Amino acid sequence: MIAHISDCTVLRNGVKMPWFGLGVYKAKEGEEVELAVKAAIKAGYRSIDTAALYDNEVGVGKAVRESGVPREELFITTKVWNADQGYESTLQAFEQSRKKLNLEYLDLYLIHWAVKGKYKDTWRALEKLYKDGFVRAIGVSNFQIHHIEDVMADSEMTPMVNQVEYHPFLTQKELHNFCKDNHIQLEAWSPLMRGEVLQNPVVIELGEKYQKTPAQIVLRWDLQNQVVTIPKSVHEERIIENADIFNFEISPDDMEKLDGLNQNKRVGADPDNFNF
Ligand SMILES: NC(=O)c1ccc[n+]([C@@H]2O[C@H](COP(=O)([O-])OP(=O)(O)OC[C@H]3O[C@@H](n4cnc5c(N)ncnc54)[C@H](OP(=O)(O)O)[C@@H]3O)[C@@H](O)[C@H]2O)c1
Repeated sequence: MIAHISDCTVLRNGVKMPWFGLGVYKAKEGEEVELAVKAAIKAGYRSIDTAALYDNEVGVGKAVRESGVPREELFITTKVWNADQGYESTLQAFEQSRKKLNLEYLDLYLIHWAVKGKYKDTWRALEKLYKDGFVRAIGVSNFQIHHIEDVMADSEMTPMVNQVEYHPFLTQKELHNFCKDNHIQLEAWSPLMRGEVLQNPVVIELGEKYQKTPAQIVLRWDLQNQVVTIPKSVHEERIIENADIFNFEISPDDMEKLDGLNQNKRVGADPDNFNF
């Protein structure tokens, strides 16, 4: 049972990654993101998920350094944006992210989307960054099974993490099973479906049953499905609320009810058909 906010999954290379963290997409650079990251770390969060695209790496790094928590107790993720993909340009993009964050190393570096014709060169750059010791783990995001198989077919390393859209309306069972079989940790983005799943009657009813909020039900469901989760909020009360999920367990029957809500419904783009 995942019983504490700092509990970790063990990635295929032995590195520990917290099951729970803060997402900062759309948190504004400067005070907004700094306050959110500081509030999260104060509430016990040990993992922060940003990306070059989010344009808030400076604030994330500043909050991390000022948090008072030793760097090695924190787990910081960033991602290479689509426009920077390719071997040399990814190495440069990483250096830019590292400078903005002002951190010596990253814990996890992800390919943000599988850009056709480029993601394999991008992956080679991630392998180099890993071997050179700049990042403790490397992975992908928004990769379908065929993208991962393509990378695995002629790369030295297999991605350690796949961060994808995942919530009760999009459970991606086949992809999840493939990742489990290959020791690739699945990580949920938009775990709350940006608020949409919180209106669902089954989620609300289970909240009443367990005396928890709809957000807490959905986030606990992630953990019990062995999926890393990174809900975003810039409000301290919600940051605290979202983390209060380590003192209860959803029964197997109720887990099934939540699994049964799947509609293959996305809030974000389709990884096989995006134009950015
Ligand atoms: N790899 C990718 O392509 C990708 C794509 C999207 C997201 N992500 C990552 O995943 C993280 C999470 O996804 P997300 O930001 O898209 O969506 P999300 O976490 O599902 O939802 C965030 C939204 O829900 C609100 N919210 C948070 N806690 C709440 C609560 N307890 N009750 C009611 N509303 C609540 C937030 O508002 P307030 O902030 O106003 O509280 C925000 O509008 C991102 O921040 C990012 O780090 C990655």
